[in-house]
Amino acid sequence: MSTVGMSAAEIVDKCKQYTMYSWSAGDSVDPIPFARGEGVWLWDRNGKRYLDWNSQAMSVHVGHGHKKIIQAIQRQAEELVYVYAGAATEVRARLGERLARLMPGHLNTSFFTLGGGEANENAVRAARGVTGRQKIMARARSYHGATSLAINLTGDHRRWANEPGPPGIVRVLDPYPYNFSFGRTPEEISKNNLDYLAEIIATEGGHTIAAMLIETITGTNGVLPPPPGWLQGLKALLEQHDILLICDEVMSGFGRTGKMFAFDHGPIVPDLMTMAKGLTSSYLPLGAVGLSDRVAKHYKKNVFYGGHTYNSHPMCLAAALANLDVIEEEGLVDNARRLEPVMKAEMARLQLKHPSMKAGRAIGLFGMIDLQKDATGTPFAPYPSTSPVMTSLGQFFREQGLFTFLKSSNFTCIPPLCITEAELREGFAIVDKGLDLTDRHVAG
Ligand SMILES: Cc1ncc(COP(=O)(O)O)c(C=O)c1O
Repeated sequence: MSTVGMSAAEIVDKCKQYTMYSWSAGDSVDPIPFARGEGVWLWDRNGKRYLDWNSQAMSVHVGHGHKKIIQAIQRQAEELVYVYAGAATEVRARLGERLARLMPGHLNTSFFTLGGGEANENAVRAARGVTGRQKIMARARSYHGATSLAINLTGDHRRWANEPGPPGIVRVLDPYPYNFSFGRTPEEISKNNLDYLAEIIATEGGHTIAAMLIETITGTNGVLPPPPGWLQGLKALLEQHDILLICDEVMSGFGRTGKMFAFDHGPIVPDLMTMAKGLTSSYLPLGAVGLSDRVAKHYKKNVFYGGHTYNSHPMCLAAALANLDVIEEEGLVDNARRLEPVMKAEMARLQLKHPSMKAGRAIGLFGMIDLQKDATGTPFAPYPSTSPVMTSLGQFFREQGLFTFLKSSNFTCIPPLCITEAELREGFAIVDKGLDLTDRHVAG
């Protein structure tokens, strides 16, 4: 049975009938039947155009339909589609070497996976093996993937239905800018949160903790860059106890924040890092763990008890190599840095105009707008539920051709890194109109 020529409605109906959707009840989903993409734009089966304001899953860094990556995948398919993970291939050699040069300092070895969750699982496995300790510290506002360990390392509500998790996870509070229990200024929050972490480590027993896993910049839980000095303070604190730092750069890596990796803002160099999404711009699935020389050396002499059928899949590695070429040749990290002030200025303009806008944050092209239903900052719906206002805002954006992710009381501004200033302003013009709608629901 051919799928060519299905109508938009048929595609949606059959997808809903025969396939299961993630993170939702099947009857409630209303998926867009996307048909093609180019740059920051996507078209659905009816020819309706959308500005991709979320890079799909915050992952299509280079934009859609990039010929260079498509051709690299085609070339690799002609040459060698698949060999098992125990083999050596030229594309593996090339990408391994390329990442060793791209990652800073002592991060010179990569272990390839199929995505971010698997990368986090394997980073934790590596940390436990090398330290001989079991406990892992992880933060409340975080997402690390949907596999069993990764979802239990996750702090947000997606974990709840997957509990109870494995033992040995120590969850800690993060330096959240809206929780004033750590202080009012970013500097106070940074210092007090680090003092609190020192106390947790002391009471848990530092010698029992293998690693701490952090999203270097929290992504779906708010686009929250850590306050000044926090990353450096954290690294120093963990070093005192020989606890390894794992930076999850799955969402924040590969130029999203205006630097190649978010930890370059510290700057710090973690002991392990995890990558996915922007590593291939999602042209094919690939994740990776970057390992420090110390960790990698351990596994030269000791067996690494982990692996998957599709580790180091040649097609995915070829996509990553071409994607890294595009990021470099088209100056996409610089573009994210150059457009950060434009995004911030647009957010500042909207905040002055719209009482429903509580705050906007951006680092590079990693942005989030928080909404409020009154002047004191009350969200439209308590976390993690949603509200009719947010549902209608989502519908409005969709009608206007702006594709983005909305949560209880916020939405993302995370376009592909190839976006132009004019396209960025076009997106904010739609956001502006959307906020007119939410303004009508502000009390007082
Ligand atoms: C920070 C972070 N870590 C890990 C993951 C999981 O990656 P994957 O969905 O590729 O398993 C995600 C996915 O959104 C993520 O944002």
